[in-house]
Amino acid sequence: MILDGKALSKKILEKIKVEVSKLSNKPHLAVILVGDDPASQVYVRNKKKTAEEIGILSTVIELPYETSEDVVINKIKELNANKEITAILVQMPLPKHINKDNVICAIDPNKDVDCFTPENVGKLAIGMEPRFNPVTPQGVLMLLDYYKVPIEGKHAVIIGRSNIVGKPMAQMLLQRNATVTICHSKTENLEEKIKAADIVISAAGKKIVRCKMVKYKATFVDVGISRDTNGKLTGDLNWIPDFNNFNEVSEYFEFVSPVPGGVGPMTIASLMLNTLASSQDMGILSIRRDSFF
Ligand code: GUN
Repeated sequence: MILDGKALSKKILEKIKVEVSKLSNKPHLAVILVGDDPASQVYVRNKKKTAEEIGILSTVIELPYETSEDVVINKIKELNANKEITAILVQMPLPKHINKDNVICAIDPNKDVDCFTPENVGKLAIGMEPRFNPVTPQGVLMLLDYYKVPIEGKHAVIIGRSNIVGKPMAQMLLQRNATVTICHSKTENLEEKIKAADIVISAAGKKIVRCKMVKYKATFVDVGISRDTNGKLTGDLNWIPDFNNFNEVSEYFEFVSPVPGGVGPMTIASLMLNTLASSQDMGILSIRRDSFF
């Protein structure tokens, strides 16, 4: 079966819109974008557009590539102090001359809708409820939960160890009592590890997984986004050599998420859920995630 992130995200966004319409103090997301990376520009534009559609206020602060670290940090401090702004997101990657850790540490953990700050990441690691859950892993979990994919006791293999996806995904799955293996570019016998998985979560950004590397009737969640030689958006799953069409792919797996239309839209819905929560009391919405679908 297909994990239809496009349809589920639509459902979640409609519910968020209803909740936002009831609020007198609207959530307000500030996005800082430094430089002119084309992919980042598209992501930021999508976030702003989605926010507008559901009544969430948004402000995009675009700064030129040459902007100094001090200027970015001062901008964040200004947003931290601004009571109108309930959520702050610094789009990654930042230019090379800026130390991303210094920038992340400047964000007020109460406005950290990405769950990037040490306080929120630390809480996640020790099993406390962070102020916000990390956006992409939360989107993946909503997708798995909606389709009732069993997690407890299952072996989840994550490909990728980034701070944005791989590591927090592992923490959240551990919290749900999965057995978790994190693989990365230096992992030996990757195929053997993938074959052992009940759930594969792939965030490599390269077409490295062939369908038949994965156990028959396992679940495959594709977090990868890259462009093929024709400029078409694709995920990490290279299914062409094994199957004739995506229908056959969806029959091979118990569940599989397509690209586009899988994790991508769920990530945006998850960010909007966090932004809604940013205008509410601590934690309440993040534990009632399932009430949004
Ligand atoms: N760049 C790629 N993914 C993300 C994300 O989830 N948050 C931010 N801030 N930047 C990103």
